[in-house]
Amino acid sequence: MAFVDNKPVAFKLGYELDKARFYSWLGGVLPAYRGHAIARALMNLQHQWCRGQGFTSVETKTQNRWQHMLILNIKSGFIITGFEPEPEDSKILMEKKL
Ligand SMILES: CC(C)(COP(=O)(O)OP(=O)(O)OC[C@H]1O[C@@H](n2cnc3c(N)ncnc32)[C@H](O)[C@@H]1OP(=O)(O)O)[C@@H](O)C(=O)NCCC(=O)NCCS
Repeated sequence: MAFVDNKPVAFKLGYELDKARFYSWLGGVLPAYRGHAIARALMNLQHQWCRGQGFTSVETKTQNRWQHMLILNIKSGFIITGFEPEPEDSKILMEKKL
């Protein structure tokens, strides 16, 4: 989690898929605190922590409606590995080698 003046303003959450693969599940920054590189910092910390735990890749899923997350993922080295069609908003599968 990220805090500003002791107030929680952002989080990044994930879990182990297996010994080598970590799944980055959920994340968000309160609207008033966006655009200050908080999500980027949390992602960097998550990947640093994952390397320390012995994970060799991070997987995630996102959707077109989360376009800022999609952009951040691509700029951070994730590649698109799959696509899950869904009636409302299809899922984009992504992976980054650590
Ligand atoms: C996606 C989200 C976490 C980004 O948080 P943030 O702290 O504002 O992001 P950062 O300031 O760290 O920005 C990192 C990069 O993301 C991209 N980005 C973030 N906000 C953007 C915007 N408004 N427009 C375009 N690109 C944006 C940029 O590439 C940016 O890098 P840059 O500043 O070098 O251009 C935030 O917008 C959010 O909580 N969105 C709603 C929840 C969500 O989408 N969760 C993910 C679901 S899969």
